[in-house]
Amino acid sequence: MNDYKKLTNEVGAPVPDNENAITAGPRGPVVMQDVWLMEKMAHFNREVIPERRMHAKGWGAYGQFTVTHDISKYTKAKVLQPGAKTDVFIRFSTVAGERGAADCERDIRGVATKFYTEEGNWDLVGNNTPTFFIRDVHNFSDLNRAVKRDPRTGRRSAQNNWDFWTLLPECFHQITVVMSDRGIPASFRNMHFFGEHTFSFYNEKNERVWCKFHLKTQQGIKNLSNEEADTINAMDREYHGADLYSAIEKGDFPKWTMYVQIMTEEQAKNHYENPFDITKIWRHAEYPLMEVGELELNRNPENYFAEVEQAAFSPAHVVPGIGFSPDRFLQGRLFAYGDAQRYRLGVNHNLIPVNQAKTEVNEYHRDGAMRVDGNYGGAPAYTPNSMGAWTAQPDVMEPPLDLEGAMYRYDPKDDPTDDCFRAGGDLWRVMTEDKKEILIQNTADNIASVTPNIKYRHAAHCYLADPEYGKRFAKAAGLDVDKMIKLSQLSNAELIQATLSSDM
Ligand code: HEM
Repeated sequence: MNDYKKLTNEVGAPVPDNENAITAGPRGPVVMQDVWLMEKMAHFNREVIPERRMHAKGWGAYGQFTVTHDISKYTKAKVLQPGAKTDVFIRFSTVAGERGAADCERDIRGVATKFYTEEGNWDLVGNNTPTFFIRDVHNFSDLNRAVKRDPRTGRRSAQNNWDFWTLLPECFHQITVVMSDRGIPASFRNMHFFGEHTFSFYNEKNERVWCKFHLKTQQGIKNLSNEEADTINAMDREYHGADLYSAIEKGDFPKWTMYVQIMTEEQAKNHYENPFDITKIWRHAEYPLMEVGELELNRNPENYFAEVEQAAFSPAHVVPGIGFSPDRFLQGRLFAYGDAQRYRLGVNHNLIPVNQAKTEVNEYHRDGAMRVDGNYGGAPAYTPNSMGAWTAQPDVMEPPLDLEGAMYRYDPKDDPTDDCFRAGGDLWRVMTEDKKEILIQNTADNIASVTPNIKYRHAAHCYLADPEYGKRFAKAAGLDVDKMIKLSQLSNAELIQATLSSDM
């Protein structure tokens, strides 16, 4: 342990003076020979690394995941076998705000979990909402540009945000969730989180099922009103980080229960909508939640930069027994994260301790910037080789997947089963009256500065989800209800055409 007594330079030599530069005479200029001063300034100038393009503001903690129920008939993943206990690291984040943004903004929250399993790292990189705004990777960078800063003013723009959201009707369910009371959680401890996508499991017999992950808070759901959040943000921009840190320091460890929904390959073929569309939910009545285990957070990081800022999660990191699905949005994410991290942290970012697997890592990757682990010494660096060094393990090959159809750019809106408003309408209909009122008021406040054409576009979508939802939003936003009903009878393309001009 460092005794904090002796200051040294970066290669361990003692530093004689850390306050007074070496000058030529008592009132003269600084000399180049003050190499300690040069080192200090040069290091400081390079301390900032790029922030994550989205999810830039975040907080992390360590803990364990324990399996309490038996789902071994679906998956052979060791991390999901009854009784298994696995160390985890979680990073919670907001999405749109930059690294210095306030915690209590209306936004979705990211929840990225790294399971350090005995078969390698499994990263479940999810959010606190069961679905996502959009479903094609092409729309992802645009979504972020629309919710982040306007290129001309440099300010966030409700106009850009609502314009983009309402031009893509598949955003509707997620907009309803974000504008609801759940749009500003009271703390990270008081929210559920979800894998969102459809993933797959395969068992010892190599039989595949599709699955979705749900983690439900044991602390209960608690949210903030706009007014409460405004007051908190004015006083403490790190409110959620402080809450998580102090709960763990006090020994009040937050816990979540993991559940999965399972759909067989046969059920998926006959499902009434695309089960791989991330904007759709699987209704719980049809695909019940099955309990899996408990996740507890119980240790704070020792150093924010080393462990939280440098943490790197990727949906591409799965272990045998857990796989991907044809979800086209998930497929895009499989490339995006590692690519971002090679830029943000460097090609060897998985050597950073928080990202390192706790199992043996035997790969043929070599060299690259910041290779700090000995680079496998004299071990063979190519494969195949005659030295008997690390060979692939066909026994963990996942089962083949039948696909059908010609290669093409399919628009999901052309699929006759596609209904962008069913999930939002279902959600509206299960809300209690006070929650409905909060949703209507939050939406009206959030959209207030936006031009009427975009408000009408959203109102027509609300009406299509549920006529009561549409009428109440139209009234709260000061819109003409009859006009909204007429707009709701148009096709999506006609509605967009009719609401393009802000003069309407
Ligand atoms: C095609 C769609 C998506 C793309 C291209 C994408 C891309 C990215 C990228 C590049 C990062 C920054 C990674 C880094 O610098 O370490 C990121 C962060 C993140 N994304 Fe996505 N994302 C997508 C969709 C989603 C979805 C659907 C979810 C939730 C289910 C999600 C959850 C997260 C979370 C939680 C983080 C922060 C991870 C952390 O704490 O380090 N993203 N995303």
